[in-house]
Amino acid sequence: MEAQAINPHFPTTLNSKNRNFMAKITCFPQSPTWVSCKSHNLSFVPEFGTSLKKDLSLRSSCVVKAKVGSDGGEELGEGVSRKNLAVFVSGGGSNFRSIHEAILDGRINGDIVVLVASKAECGGANYARNKGIPVIVFPKTKSGSEGLSPHDLVSALRKFKVDNVLLAGFLKLIPAELIRAYPKSILNIHPSLLPSFGGKGYYGMKVHRAVIASGVRYSGPTIHFVDEHYDTGRILAQRVVPVLVTDTAEELAARVLQEEHQVYVEVAAALCEERIIWREDGVPLIRSKDDPDKFS
Ligand code: GAR
Repeated sequence: MEAQAINPHFPTTLNSKNRNFMAKITCFPQSPTWVSCKSHNLSFVPEFGTSLKKDLSLRSSCVVKAKVGSDGGEELGEGVSRKNLAVFVSGGGSNFRSIHEAILDGRINGDIVVLVASKAECGGANYARNKGIPVIVFPKTKSGSEGLSPHDLVSALRKFKVDNVLLAGFLKLIPAELIRAYPKSILNIHPSLLPSFGGKGYYGMKVHRAVIASGVRYSGPTIHFVDEHYDTGRILAQRVVPVLVTDTAEELAARVLQEEHQVYVEVAAALCEERIIWREDGVPLIRSKDDPDKFS
């Protein structure tokens, strides 16, 4: 299922499981209150008066769903369920670890229910096993002795009731079958400012070497939705770091990686709180947690 395209002033959340959207309610003059709305039928809103119905009907009709904080602020509503995440890795998995740590200390409204690794023995897979997170291997190894087919991978993710997939240093192409099964639900992190230095063959240290050789003065991670090609899906978030004249690829990689850990946690938090919306032209945006009028 896909979320529908919306007007940015009346955004619709991304998550297909829960097609909530945010509406600014002006019927409480003391403090404008934000609630999460669902459906298209105002007759299901008995607790709000006609002024609310009138106000909302000017923009769209909806059913109020989430809680509103007593201080006038927004709480995670009843409609915002905890999300099941699958993380995909090919190597050390430092992004995976930082997301897992953020989950453990309550910064992300979700759980990593399965780790998908392109190699059974890699840092990310070992960390997952130590933490009791199930590990599956994808794709099939050349000998065929290990690893799932695309079809079996999708079945496994369904079995784990995965809502969203986070690629964190996963270097294999994502099969079309998985993209079809999880539309607008798969994110990737790339260590350059896409669309520069992306595409097949641009991964890990190769990206940083190319960045330095090109003479650009800025780099940084990009988080984007995943489509059938390498690094071409819609851009959701970016962070900028300087490229210093004395930088080695390793030094630049370390600076970018530090930003990766922060931005991926922030994006995963937004995803799990259903704060990602789609602008009418197809660009995904993140609604600020503190100010629902602000998008980035
Ligand atoms: C990260 O820098 C990530 O951006 C990059 O691989 C590294 C994985 O590090 N991904 C790509 O290059 C994808 N094209 P990690 O395993 O320590 O998270």
